[in-house]
Amino acid sequence: MNKNSENISGWKRFMKSLTKAHELGTEEDIMLDHDYDGIRELDNVLPPWWLYGFYITIVISIFYYTQVFYNSEKYSQAKEYAAELAQGKAEVEQYKKDHPELFDDANIVAFTDAENIAKGKELFSSKTCSACHLADLGGSIGPNLTDNHWILGGGVKNIYNTISKGGRPGKGMIPWESTISREERIQLASYIISMQGTKPATPKPAQGDIIWPEE
Ligand code: HEC
Repeated sequence: MNKNSENISGWKRFMKSLTKAHELGTEEDIMLDHDYDGIRELDNVLPPWWLYGFYITIVISIFYYTQVFYNSEKYSQAKEYAAELAQGKAEVEQYKKDHPELFDDANIVAFTDAENIAKGKELFSSKTCSACHLADLGGSIGPNLTDNHWILGGGVKNIYNTISKGGRPGKGMIPWESTISREERIQLASYIISMQGTKPATPKPAQGDIIWPEE
């Protein structure tokens, strides 16, 4: 017997110990008496590889459940949820504190960067503002937004407020706060401010007694 065939028989022995398969040709030994309409059954043992795996799962489950039981004070799902919720709320509060201009209307600051101004310009036509104020803000149904005369007040806070709450009743400028997000309303106000002093093609005569910015 060379080394190779020894190995093979060692391997075979190992496999056999894992399966405890009954020798082929000797099935009669383990044949059960009962005959189920011509179908007969061999009384094979459960293969050890499967049985050990099963025992291991039982041991792991006992370990697992004792861990869950002893740590339930620390790690219940309800507690994790509550903790994450509290952490999320604290982060939101912190963010609000760090960025008052984004959440507190008294602290609104106009955007001056090109990206937000461009977004404001895009919104000015997509949200139909240009239908009444014209694309160059010269004014038609609504007032000219490029001059320094304001009916309702200039500056980012007043303009934001007009966009949010609308103009005087019956004039045609509706409140937009339910249809345009806060950030977008600030972008719109910022765009309008950026257009201050530009020369529209057909400017509507100045309306309003509030002067902003002062000359
Ligand atoms: C249906 C026409 C109409 C549309 C659409 C419209 N506006 Fe107006 N807007 C007006 C009118 C009219 C006024 C004047 C309100 C008043 O006299 O109280 C006005 C006033 C304003 C004012 C204040 C001007 C001032 O002199 O104080 C701003 C700012 C403004 N609109 C921005 C916008 C923006 C931004 C949009 C789009 C989201 C928009 N408007 C859409 C008709 C419109």
